[in-house]
Amino acid sequence: MKKIVIGMTGFGYMGKIHLLGYRDIPMIYSDKLPEIVMKAVCRSSQKMADRCAIENGFTNGYSSFDEMLQDDEINIIDIVTPNYLHKEQIIKALKAGKDVLCEKPLGLNAKEAEEISSVVKQTGRQLGMVFNYRFIPAIQQAKRWIEDGRLGKVYSFRGEYFHSGYQDAKRPLTWRMRKEQSGGGALVDMGVHVLDLIRFLLGEFESVSGKTQTFIGERPLPDNSEKMGDVTVDDVAWLTARLKGGATGTVEISRFATGSLDDLKISAFGEKGAFKFDLMDANYLYWYENGQGWRRVETLQHYEDTKFPSPRSIIGWTRFHTENQYRFLESIIFGNLLSPDVSDGVAAQRILDAVYKSAETGLEESL
Ligand SMILES: NC(=O)c1ccc[n+]([C@@H]2O[C@H](COP(=O)([O-])OP(=O)(O)OC[C@H]3O[C@@H](n4cnc5c(N)ncnc54)[C@H](O)[C@@H]3O)[C@@H](O)[C@H]2O)c1
Repeated sequence: MKKIVIGMTGFGYMGKIHLLGYRDIPMIYSDKLPEIVMKAVCRSSQKMADRCAIENGFTNGYSSFDEMLQDDEINIIDIVTPNYLHKEQIIKALKAGKDVLCEKPLGLNAKEAEEISSVVKQTGRQLGMVFNYRFIPAIQQAKRWIEDGRLGKVYSFRGEYFHSGYQDAKRPLTWRMRKEQSGGGALVDMGVHVLDLIRFLLGEFESVSGKTQTFIGERPLPDNSEKMGDVTVDDVAWLTARLKGGATGTVEISRFATGSLDDLKISAFGEKGAFKFDLMDANYLYWYENGQGWRRVETLQHYEDTKFPSPRSIIGWTRFHTENQYRFLESIIFGNLLSPDVSDGVAAQRILDAVYKSAETGLEESL
């Protein structure tokens, strides 16, 4: 591949974050990858697409995804659309011979995710997932030490992800609050990150028991605030889980956690050691081992093969995304193991489905 030529579909919040990442990669990694060309953006109207292309430096703007796929120069499709569009767009892109980077979640449910996975196999193309929190230096440090056996057998774990932004009853009913467009609420939107981190650090799930709750059942429509529509997803989800390795843990996800900003926490407790991580304190990993007390380990911007920005500088949220995007492109270019990939997208979706099923049946669900 002489050039990495990207077509992006969707340009809301995450589209902008991904564009920042692609622009930063040549600065951070100097000459490690071929030139990255932002060739095209696809939006829902031609007027928006043209304006977006001009304002953000894409060569072309499209309102038709199919038309964008016909550009043979594009070799990577970046999917940053609402969840209900992922499956169709991924499958079309793979069949058009493109490799794909897709924002979480992979699809609306496990059935969609499995369908996508079978097209990945059929076409032999690559599908990378965005699970950006895997790329926090503190999480990567925890992963290395856990793999070295420094926790010993893990007894229990705890994960939580809290936002407060949905407490405003006037917040309009967007795609995130409609089950058929999002696949689920707080659990899908934020919980998927925590579930993925648990898999990444501690291993596969064996069973889950869940409960969900919706506090505000109807909200104003985005195009007519006089009219109300039904919220069909959860505002809060709670679950207990058992992992195949024997550990048991709890997870709580809320978009109604008063005073919270972007509060993701994860911890685990083993026979020899324990760790804690807090996204609002993301420069450090808290590590306990062999009865020697808790250590605050500086992890800052300590990435393996980059010196810019200086590893002693504090880390920020967009940097994890950039790293996720860089690692995906590196796998495509050099054939390194792609991680996270479609199998991680499918696994996360099976857990989400099992939690929703358990919340309905009141039973523990096996995976
Ligand atoms: N990894 C993370 O940290 C993170 C954070 C937020 C969102 N996300 C994920 O990113 C994706 C996008 O979320 P967002 O927050 O950017 O949503 P958003 O609502 O801000 O943006 C979605 C964009 O898609 C556009 N769109 C709608 N229909 C389209 C179509 N047919 N063709 C092209 N564009 C279309 C919308 O106009 C909008 O610009 C979701 O899958 C979400 O789960 C990931």
